[in-house]
Amino acid sequence: TAPLRIGIAGLGTVGGGVLKVLERHAELLAGRTGRRMVVTAVSARTRSRDRGVDLSAARWYEDAVALAADPDVDVVVELIGGSEGVAREVCETALSRGKHVVTANKALLAIHGTGLARLAEENGVALSFEAAVAGGIPVIKGLREGLAANCVTEVHGILNGTCNYILTEMRETGREFGDVLAEAQKLGYAEADPSFDIDGVDAAHKLAILTSVAFGCAVDFDAVHIEGIRHISALDIEYASELGFRIKLLGIARRSDGGVEQRVHPAMVPVSSPIATVDGVFNAVVAEGDFVERVTFVGRGAGAGPTASAVVADLVDIARGRVSHAFGVPSGRLESVRAAPPEERRGAYYLRL
Ligand code: HSE
Repeated sequence: TAPLRIGIAGLGTVGGGVLKVLERHAELLAGRTGRRMVVTAVSARTRSRDRGVDLSAARWYEDAVALAADPDVDVVVELIGGSEGVAREVCETALSRGKHVVTANKALLAIHGTGLARLAEENGVALSFEAAVAGGIPVIKGLREGLAANCVTEVHGILNGTCNYILTEMRETGREFGDVLAEAQKLGYAEADPSFDIDGVDAAHKLAILTSVAFGCAVDFDAVHIEGIRHISALDIEYASELGFRIKLLGIARRSDGGVEQRVHPAMVPVSSPIATVDGVFNAVVAEGDFVERVTFVGRGAGAGPTASAVVADLVDIARGRVSHAFGVPSGRLESVRAAPPEERRGAYYLRL
C-alpha cells in the first residue's frame, strides 16, 4: 500500500513531538496500519533550529498555505494555532483540495468548527482534532465513538493544564500566580498568549468542542459563560483546603429543557470527588450517559508527548481509512441548540461532583 504522505505546518513544541513519535515508532505504526507514514513537507517560522530529527527528505515551505496545496501531501497536520489567519487558510486550502486535516487548534474549531466539518464532508476527507481537547486523553474518540450508544446529559472537567498546574503549585508551595505561570510557559504548557489559559478562554474553546461532540449540536463558543483564575489568591486556596475543597477551573456543559448550558469558571470541588485529586498538568473529563452512567477520563492535558500522541492517533485513523464525521453526526444535522438562558448559568461555584 502507498505510504501516507504527511505535511506538517508548525514545528513548535507539539510539532517536534509529532516528528519524534513518527520517527521512533515508524515500524510500530506501519505494523498497525499496513502503511508507512512519511513526512514529505514541513513549514515553520525558523528553519535552522535543530529538532533532533532528520528532515532532509521533507520539502521545506516558508508559506504554510503553499504546503497545504502540495500535491505530494495526503494529510496536513496544522499546528500553527489561532482561529484566523494562516491556520484557518491552511485548513481550508487542504480540505478543499481533498486532503485530510489533523489539527490541535481548539481556537479554530471553537469558532469555525461547523464550517470546517462541512468542508471536510463535501470533499470526502477527515477533519480530526483529538489533540485539540485535553491533550493526550482520547476524549473525542471516547465520547464520539465510545459513548455513541448513549444520550449524554452532562460533560464536565478540568480542561486547561496550565491553570490546573498553577492552582496545584499555588496550593502545594504557596507561591503566587506569576511565578508559576512563567514555569508553565517554560514547560511548553501555556498558549502563545497565556491570557487565553488564565482567563478561561482556552478551556472554553475546548468545552465548546466537547459540547458539540457530546450533544450533537453546532459548536457555539459565544454561548459559553467564561471566568478565569486571575483573581484566585494563594489564600483562597488555603481557605478552601481548610474547608475540605480544592479550587479547580472547570468546564461544564449540561443539557436542560431550556437548551444547552456551557460555562467555565473556578469552582470549589470537595476533596472526596475523583477530580479533586487530578493535579498538575493533568486534565479530567467526566461524562454522564443514560446507559453507561458516569465515565471519567484522566491524563496529561498539555505538553509535547501527550499532545503528539493524540495527533499521531488521528494519523493512524486516517492511515487505516477511517473517516468519521468530525463532530459525530453529519454537519447538516448538527442541531443548533439554544444557549440556556442566563438565569440557568448563574452561580453554582460549589458543585457536587
Ligand atoms: N495551554 C493548553 C493547556 C495547552 O494548558 O491546557 C493544551 O491545550
